[in-house]
Amino acid sequence: MKQREGFSSGLAVFLVTLSSAVGLGNIWLFPYLTGSNGGAAFILIYLLCIAIVGLPVMLCEFFMGRRTKKNVMGAVTTLSDKKAFKSIGYLGMISTAMIAFFYAVVSGWVYSYVFKSIKGIFKDVTTEGVKEIFTSHTTAIFPPAMWVFVVLVVVSVILISGVKKGIEKVTKVLMPILLILLVICTIKSLTLPGAKEGIEFLFKPDFSKVNMAVIVSALGLSFFKLSLGMGTMATYASYYTKDSNLYGNAAKVIISDTLVSLLAGLAIFPAVFSFGLDPSSGPSLLFETIPLIFSKIPGGSVLIVAFFLTAAFASTMAIISMMEVLVAYFTEEKNMDRTKAVIMITSITFIVSAITSMTVSGGVLNQYPLFDLFDKITSSIFLPLGGLLIAIFIGWFINKKDFLDEMSNGGTLNNTLAAGISYAIIKFVTPILLIIVFLSSIGVI
Ligand code: TRP
Repeated sequence: MKQREGFSSGLAVFLVTLSSAVGLGNIWLFPYLTGSNGGAAFILIYLLCIAIVGLPVMLCEFFMGRRTKKNVMGAVTTLSDKKAFKSIGYLGMISTAMIAFFYAVVSGWVYSYVFKSIKGIFKDVTTEGVKEIFTSHTTAIFPPAMWVFVVLVVVSVILISGVKKGIEKVTKVLMPILLILLVICTIKSLTLPGAKEGIEFLFKPDFSKVNMAVIVSALGLSFFKLSLGMGTMATYASYYTKDSNLYGNAAKVIISDTLVSLLAGLAIFPAVFSFGLDPSSGPSLLFETIPLIFSKIPGGSVLIVAFFLTAAFASTMAIISMMEVLVAYFTEEKNMDRTKAVIMITSITFIVSAITSMTVSGGVLNQYPLFDLFDKITSSIFLPLGGLLIAIFIGWFINKKDFLDEMSNGGTLNNTLAAGISYAIIKFVTPILLIIVFLSSIGVI
């Protein structure tokens, strides 16, 4: 009985955490950043970032959450009485809100593509056609805002009815479907004429294209991808059971998430080259390539609905993991009722996101580039800064003994060596690397 329970909770912990990590980052941001940063060399740097910075910071967040069983702010104040570390909590909540403001907009685009696919708009579509459809949707005034509203209503309903059961169940069904659809896309994409160029673009590194901006971008992506630097993982870890294996879970989540990103890259780039699209076209990349691929597949008009539907769910679950940071804070620290907290947070998000949706390039408010600002500021400054503070906090203000104790579930897991090495990396390597990248990104060195 006991063993079975352990297994089921382990699986739930893994899936819920993965449902935060997997999202638009894999199928939208990863391919488009890879495209605009030159391909394979960018991917290699990204992989390095997740190994040297991503894994250690994830362990720190898991530690904070499960050790205290509290929201981010509650966690830092429980672990230390130094007021300065409250900044981790405040910064986390500001980043959460800013990410949600532009993420909800893109999620709204995805929802609208579900609807457009059902209507059959992409049947026999051309390269010019997909561009036209994307631009006319994203630069309109009301439809993007209306879809943001729909997204946030779905998010609110799931959040109010209690995250755990809903997400767990939905994730178990949807993650495999998303994977199967990505594999179908990949196979089709790889067999298109001229696919080879896309594969080379993904796997043949050209280091002449690497500069500081590329490194900062890869680092930012590694935080964004793994939902790190702002307390999402700490918040989710506060719901873990005492017997979940933190180290193993971090490794599994990171590996699975990376595989999904690579699969998305393999689905998208061969098609980009085959259809003569521009790999560095930016945020529109996903919305142009996927309809083109499916328009060439038998049964594609059904599969494309399924694809955007699963992408919509993946993005919804990622938003839920952001909102939960704020919901946990307001319910625990401010004693707010859960329903009230959810409605307040999603209402504010709706207002700002609706305005943000009009600030994309070509939009009516594009002289105020809020969309790009929220994206850039969070990925290149706030998340790495949050990660730096978290690493310093755990590495220098938490006892190694306590860290090892939590990683090994009070000595029941035999991982002292691995956890010890991670602790040393958290203490020295991660902060120094982050400081160097950070200083050079703001032009100091
Ligand atoms: N990781 C998600 C993605 O790749 C996005 C996300 C969810 C996120 N929660 C986060 C990013 C917290 C930064 C911080 O789509």
